[in-house]
Amino acid sequence: MTAQIKVEHVSKVFKTPGDDVVALRDINLEIPRGQFVCLLGPSGCGKSTLLNAVAGFSLPSSGRIMVDGATITDTGPDRGMVFQEYALFPWMTVAQNIAFGLKIKNAPKAQIDAKVAELLETLKLTEFRDRYPKDLSGGMRQRVAIARILALDSPIMLMDEPFGALDALTRRSLQDELLKIWEEHKKTILFVTHSIEESIYLADRIIVLTYRPGTVKRDVLVDIPRPRDPSAAGFNALKRELAELVMEEQQRHQQAELRGLTTD
Ligand SMILES: Nc1ncnc2c1ncn2[C@@H]1O[C@H](COP(=O)(O)OP(=O)(O)OP(=O)(O)O)[C@@H](O)[C@H]1O
Ligand SMILES: [Mg+2]
Repeated sequence: MTAQIKVEHVSKVFKTPGDDVVALRDINLEIPRGQFVCLLGPSGCGKSTLLNAVAGFSLPSSGRIMVDGATITDTGPDRGMVFQEYALFPWMTVAQNIAFGLKIKNAPKAQIDAKVAELLETLKLTEFRDRYPKDLSGGMRQRVAIARILALDSPIMLMDEPFGALDALTRRSLQDELLKIWEEHKKTILFVTHSIEESIYLADRIIVLTYRPGTVKRDVLVDIPRPRDPSAAGFNALKRELAELVMEEQQRHQQAELRGLTTD
């Protein structure tokens, strides 16, 4: 089977006035269509850098990323991004935010209205359709952000810690909704998190990154049937295994910071 997303020898160096920061080094990944992949690792290991490169916001310094055989040089409608900080238009209502991408594409009004109504229903937002983002809870705003991507029907969803700011209950219910959407709409999802539990709850596959430079430390297939029970033995065994890997990288992070302090 050919991969939908191919990351080939990708490195990313940020030039800064003091030093060059090697954020990613020689990342290689093949992601088949429809896979739910989590990128896991401590703060600063390059998760967002990799996701932004796939989105086309910031291109690799070397190597290339391909989607369906074509090298990415820019953002595109085939890849939709959901950010942690709810990037909604504050001057638009919920329904207008969801309709925005379709309007830009000049879709007929009847088609836009039907799609928006369907997505409002799917994401349990119908009664909030005329509210503005400032009058919504964090969980509702993330639902709107997800609906916006679904409106464009992007086959690939890129999600950068989308549920990081939510309370535990809201987070779990959005995780369940996302899994349902993923199963129904057959999306490929690349989901960044630093929650080990979230990654095991959601993913088919977890990529653990090393701390600076970001490289692939471990590539794990999660062979646990859904819905997954976080209190089950298999879930906990994997949690311990991943915690150890992430902890090693966190320690490298702390040591690097200490070295920075003592050489200043
Ligand atoms: N524009 C930039 N200029 C310079 N350095 C950058 C830039 N963007 C990211 N970095 C550095 O690259 C490394 C990786 O950053 P990145 O934001 O990808 O990490 P992350 O894994 O997403 O972390 P977090 O979990 O905190 O979001 C970090 O050391 C960061 O300081
Ligand atoms: Mg990040």
